[in-house]
Amino acid sequence: MKMKAYVRPEALYPYQAWSLAEEVYDDENNQRSESVFALGNGYIGMRGNFEEGYHGVKGKSVTGNYINGFYDAKPIHYPEGAYGYPSRNQAMLNVTNAQCVGISVGDEPFHLNTGQVLSFSRELDMKHGFLKRQIEWEAPSGGRVRISFQRLVSFTHKHLAAVQVEVESTGYIGEITLHSFLDGKIQEAEATDDPRLGSGGGEPSLMLEKMEQRGELSLLKQRTRHTGFELLTGISHRIDAPAAAAAESVTGEEQIGTRFTLKLSPGEKAVLTKYISYHTSKDGSDQEAELEKRVEGTHREASELGFSRLLDEQQAYLDSFWQHADVEIEGDPALQQGIRFNAFQLLQSVGRDGLTNIGAKGLTGEGYEGHYFWDTEMYMMPFFTYTQPDIARALMDFRYATLDKARSRAQVMSQKGALYPWRTIDGDENSAYFPAGTAQMHINADIAYAIKQYMQATGDIQFLLDKGAEILFETSRFWVDLGHFNEARGGAFCIDGVTGPDEYTAIVNNNTYTNLMVQSQLNYACDTAELLGREHPEAYERLRQSIGLTQDEIAGWREAAARMFVPYDETLGIYAQDDTFLTKKKWDFEHTPEDQYPLLLHFHPLVIYRHQVLKQADTVMALFLLSEKFTMEEKIRNYQYYEPLTTHDSSLSPCIHSIVSAEIGDLDGAYAYFDRTVRMDLDDINRNAKDGLHTAAMAGSWMSIVHGFAGMRLTDGELAFSPALPHLWQSCTFRVTYHGQLLMVRMGREETRYTLVEGDALTFKHKERELSLAAGETIAVD
Ligand code: BGC
Repeated sequence: MKMKAYVRPEALYPYQAWSLAEEVYDDENNQRSESVFALGNGYIGMRGNFEEGYHGVKGKSVTGNYINGFYDAKPIHYPEGAYGYPSRNQAMLNVTNAQCVGISVGDEPFHLNTGQVLSFSRELDMKHGFLKRQIEWEAPSGGRVRISFQRLVSFTHKHLAAVQVEVESTGYIGEITLHSFLDGKIQEAEATDDPRLGSGGGEPSLMLEKMEQRGELSLLKQRTRHTGFELLTGISHRIDAPAAAAAESVTGEEQIGTRFTLKLSPGEKAVLTKYISYHTSKDGSDQEAELEKRVEGTHREASELGFSRLLDEQQAYLDSFWQHADVEIEGDPALQQGIRFNAFQLLQSVGRDGLTNIGAKGLTGEGYEGHYFWDTEMYMMPFFTYTQPDIARALMDFRYATLDKARSRAQVMSQKGALYPWRTIDGDENSAYFPAGTAQMHINADIAYAIKQYMQATGDIQFLLDKGAEILFETSRFWVDLGHFNEARGGAFCIDGVTGPDEYTAIVNNNTYTNLMVQSQLNYACDTAELLGREHPEAYERLRQSIGLTQDEIAGWREAAARMFVPYDETLGIYAQDDTFLTKKKWDFEHTPEDQYPLLLHFHPLVIYRHQVLKQADTVMALFLLSEKFTMEEKIRNYQYYEPLTTHDSSLSPCIHSIVSAEIGDLDGAYAYFDRTVRMDLDDINRNAKDGLHTAAMAGSWMSIVHGFAGMRLTDGELAFSPALPHLWQSCTFRVTYHGQLLMVRMGREETRYTLVEGDALTFKHKERELSLAAGETIAVD
């Protein structure tokens, strides 16, 4: 399916460099806006719901509040089960809604669909880290007020969020009530046939245990039905009003909070500050007293700081983030906004405690049920490795924390070593459809690849010693046990019965991507064993003993790598995606109408599987990841064969095509793919932003710039750039952190400038030329 020239749709949100804004509210777009205006801090995620709730807009809003890694695990009932199928499905839970603040002018409740909205605006401020909404409203009986909301989810206090509501009378004398509460009654996601959404339906997962007003604190405690985790949500308040406000505790069905009643005259205003905390037994003990102590501690800290200091902290945190992660694009405000939005949303969604990770939809919606996939290592990790290495490390800590589960999974699959789950929250396999799930064993090699990249970019040897090597060795064991030296292939090492990245082709022998990635992993595992044996013999010996690793095994890895089978078609001069791919019939793109995409929603998997058609980059992905293994001619031939067969029905696809197009010199093609990736959610290109944002595509847009247009590669410890600026841009500036040093790269029309912003000395390559920078130095190259 040749991609048509990409025409950027009309802006849904005005192009602004540091923010996302809207001036008009429309129910029809509400669910999408709830996703893009989401706030989070990697632990708490809040969709952009309205504090006052909705009136008469059934089906147009999904109230969503999430805690990373907090899930229930409902049993999966297979009408026709088989050995080794996962028995439970973990799903990130939509938890207690703590955003709620009902506002009444006299006895008329404020809603955007009642009375008269004289003006409306909302803005997600990515520089300062908060969401703001302002409305001028006339109640049905004529009272006029100006209401503004500011909301933040603290980057510096993991368990804390805060809302500030200001009500100003612009022509009203009388009573105002502000009813702030916790709502524990969760609207469960509906069951659908779309595999991207998850199973949904069934009985509620959170069961109320207790509601209590304790002094200023309203508490609501729940327990998950199947996993038995405790969740304690708390709110506390501060009210500032011209005259004392009356406060009364109010409880309802699974609701608890405080109602403030006060009087306003024109020109006067009242300000309610609400602190919100979430604590769970997953972060510590499930002892009630301990949980309560943690909640009290968060609220004490919050009220001591106050809303404005919390805002200052957000800004300080983000100043440092942007200093390391910002990308400036001169010449295209839409792309400028898109790339910043993506970086900001990635930061908001990524778990950084070593026990959580980043879901396919981040913390913005329930699509893919909050599961973590290979998306983390292959898409998100590059962004974090080169801009926030500590977060990258935490993502790998998560894999280490779940290594024992990967060991158990390998056993279930009758193999040695460790097999990581295709989709998971706590390390158990959650994929109920194994052809496009468990069979994607390449995830093991993806994790190994990410470890190698992280090590090369940071030199964090302690990570390798403590965790990385063990992951590498156990997953390498798995491969050598899974594959076999195949007589029918002249004794080459073959890996049968797997699925590669392309989910429109399943359960094949010798998927080229998988075999090449495994080859690279096995060599790296051997190199690591040699390095540790040489330079850290004691730690290496301890590890060897603890996992019973022998020198013979390691030699076996080298041999399997050396004799790896990679299917190649001499006539076409390309790598075959797998043993049989090139023998299949090509998909009839010409007679497939637009509305039958994505194919997965319109054709049975078997219909798709028996054709040459790709959902996403597969061999093309290998061309990028293992760039040094292919000649330029090979890259061009392979790309030209596979690209027209690719539907990009997965949002993970365009960015990889952008990177490879740039490398083979098709800058226009690279630009078109990039454009489509970078504004995937802001322009709602896949028309499903309402279910949550596409985190892999967002990270992919960063890769398209850094690995694509700037051609950055890190091979065998050598950092290199090969910049090519898209014709429509004046310049593009980005930053990467390499071995703790911050390098700023500015690609201009005439020259590329490299500046060492932090660090003492850095050597790298610009095309074939070696450059060395001293502290603070800038070098410009034509
Ligand atoms: C893609 C997978 C991806 C998953 C979650 C699927 O549509 O085909 O590669 O891991 O989405 O993003």
